[in-house]
Amino acid sequence: MPSRPQTPQRRVSPRHFLMCPPTFFDVTYAINPWMDPRVPVDRDRAHAQWSHLVAAYERAGHRVDLLEPVPGLPDLVFAANGATVVDGRTLLARFATPQRAAEAAVHRAWHERSGVLYGGRGLAEPVAVNEAEGDFAVLGSVVLAGHGFRTSVAAHAELAALTGREVVSLELVDPRFYHLDVALGVLDAAADQVAYFPGAFSAAAQAVLAERFPDAVLADAEDAFAFGLNLVGDGRHVFMPTGAPHLRDALEARGYVPVEIDTSELVLGGGSVKCCTQEIRPTPSTPGATSEGDPR
Ligand code: ARG
Repeated sequence: MPSRPQTPQRRVSPRHFLMCPPTFFDVTYAINPWMDPRVPVDRDRAHAQWSHLVAAYERAGHRVDLLEPVPGLPDLVFAANGATVVDGRTLLARFATPQRAAEAAVHRAWHERSGVLYGGRGLAEPVAVNEAEGDFAVLGSVVLAGHGFRTSVAAHAELAALTGREVVSLELVDPRFYHLDVALGVLDAAADQVAYFPGAFSAAAQAVLAERFPDAVLADAEDAFAFGLNLVGDGRHVFMPTGAPHLRDALEARGYVPVEIDTSELVLGGGSVKCCTQEIRPTPSTPGATSEGDPR
């Protein structure tokens, strides 16, 4: 047996994801520095890349539910921004920009219809602006919450009140990292394992992260600018974009299994793997359901 004493045994915890096919994906406006409406989008290619991600999730044993795509909502493919579900409690999004405002109703309709099926405990009406999992990273012990570009600090308090979880506010300072989920990735939620790019955060936020996550994986600029942190970890696999080789190697060295997906078309909209993925975290007591708190 090869002996790698430092490498812990990584185990998959099955997840339930909500995603939306990029049927109407396009870049027709620019609401983040990555978007340029003059650059054409290859929708077939976007669809093929997105389908690879879905297939990779399903191969790993995760459940993927689909939102119906809507013409005229080119960013709906970035399903992470539509709602935050923690222990079956759902905080709907309230988008920062008028271009995406109508997406909220699409998510609401899905959660209203499907909530009972996943053991939902109701929907909370958002008061302050929040772009859901774009800025909320749900860990085992806390929720990390970004602000500075989209989600407001007031929304952090709303999520804390709704879920009873401690919500830790982190200020983002670089417009290219306009959402938390492009600056910080959750490798293993239950174990509070994260990777992040310090340069995306204010000095105060960097200090909080360093103190709370002394063993975090630190990404370099090259990997961060390649959307490497826009990843989804299931405890064992890390679904991540291609083009972040240092991060991939660092994760492998820690015993994770990187699963690289080419998301070059989706990146034209300023999003990658995590942006396409909303996680449904059911009520812990739901029979047959999985939760972050499951023993493994
Ligand atoms: N074009 C979208 C926007 O600027 C991309 C959203 C990416 N989603 C994310 N979770 N970071 O809002």
